[in-house]
Amino acid sequence: MLKQLTARKSVAAIHRELESGPKLNRVLDRRALTAVGLGSMIGSGIFVLTGTVASQHTGPAVTLAFLVAAIGCGLAAMCYAELASMIPVSGSAYSYTYATLGEGVAWFVGWNLALEYVMSGAAVAVSWSGYVVNLLAEFGVELPPALTNAPLGKVDSSLHHLGLTGAIVNVPAVLIVVALTWLCYVGVKQSARVNNVMVTIKVLIIVLFIIVGLKYVSTDRWQPYLPANTGQYGQYGLSGVLQGAAIIFFAYIGFDQAATTAQEARNPQRDVPWGIMAALVISTTLYVAMAAIMTGMVSYDQLNVAAPVAVALDAHPELGWLALPVKIGIIVGLTSVILMSLLGQPRIFLAMSRDGLLPPSLQKVHPKHRTPYIGTVVTGLIACFFAGLFPLDILGELISIGILIAFSAVCAGVVVLRHTQPEMPRPFRVPFAKVTGIAGVFVCFAMAYALPHDTWIRLAGWTGIGFAIYFLYGYHHSRLRQ
Ligand code: ALA
Repeated sequence: MLKQLTARKSVAAIHRELESGPKLNRVLDRRALTAVGLGSMIGSGIFVLTGTVASQHTGPAVTLAFLVAAIGCGLAAMCYAELASMIPVSGSAYSYTYATLGEGVAWFVGWNLALEYVMSGAAVAVSWSGYVVNLLAEFGVELPPALTNAPLGKVDSSLHHLGLTGAIVNVPAVLIVVALTWLCYVGVKQSARVNNVMVTIKVLIIVLFIIVGLKYVSTDRWQPYLPANTGQYGQYGLSGVLQGAAIIFFAYIGFDQAATTAQEARNPQRDVPWGIMAALVISTTLYVAMAAIMTGMVSYDQLNVAAPVAVALDAHPELGWLALPVKIGIIVGLTSVILMSLLGQPRIFLAMSRDGLLPPSLQKVHPKHRTPYIGTVVTGLIACFFAGLFPLDILGELISIGILIAFSAVCAGVVVLRHTQPEMPRPFRVPFAKVTGIAGVFVCFAMAYALPHDTWIRLAGWTGIGFAIYFLYGYHHSRLRQ
């Protein structure tokens, strides 16, 4: 058993499969790949969690939390870029770990990537529903709460006490998932086009907010920059910055998305690393600037709300004209994040199914649309289930830790592959690979460590379910075994 768990798939075998396997449409260029990354990133993190983190963990130093999280992501991004240039297939971190750390770790990483894609799609669909309900209410359209909220929720502060809220199902969240699943089904080109438009709108809205808001910033509100710790771990002070970074890390989820679409890139070896890095640099700049403006426009302690951007605008009545375009921009931004999540997951399924770890139907490519359509429908159904029934906090908490662990595996993978296959051509090389890789593992683990204890218990549960499925199916059907 240990032999199979540690069995590695050779990079050469991956290249052979690429030649002979089903062909996806190679339509994505550099700009589209960067937009795929930005499309997946700029969403609930900046538009919702900035307020939570500033008010509860860091004060105005939320900008510092963004930078700490960016360092972890930057180290992982460089490692992603090297592996993506060597192994340009759809499976992203899953495929990289299969080639470097063996089948057991690869399954674990692939299983956690499902958290990243399906769950974050569902989580952001819940935020989307909240903003849309709020916007419709402004126009006098009141939707019944029983059909716009999750029927399950925390009845006390512990996840173990899930209870019924009285709602039936979150209809808008389900509808947006269904609509975007259809878009993913009909083609990556259509999805990429829609995504490009949405990314342009949300970036313009952020830039507009930054430029207009600058005039209303009072630097007094940035004092003290980092309020003193209250005596409790994570409430301001340095521990607050670390915990804040781990929570705000959600904003960066998706920067690796370009890697999952490598098989649809025109020139994956050159463009995927480029797209990953460009998306990370652009989003970090926008996040830090927007967070600084927000905390400069209104005191951080007023930002613990579902729509902190609206609070910052409402604090200055002269800016009333900006509220509507910003809300629409936010809804568009959230839409693109959901779309990109739904686009990423079927491509992970495809890679896992090709290796025999999941049923073969998941690698079927639609004869007309050239998309992995069965995987797309399965992804949509799972996302509908979670988006319709669970609230944002429960979904959000489930996500970050799994991804931090997956990132650590990618960083470790670079170090291992440099050692085991030093001769392999590497179109992109991480500078100081050993130091960068080990630092990446360390920073990502430090953030995971800073997350609440409950999150670790949930990760253990999630991993247990994953390995049960592996031993029931993948272990016996693995192509490496055969
Ligand atoms: N990074 C994405 C967001 O912030 C998941 O919504």
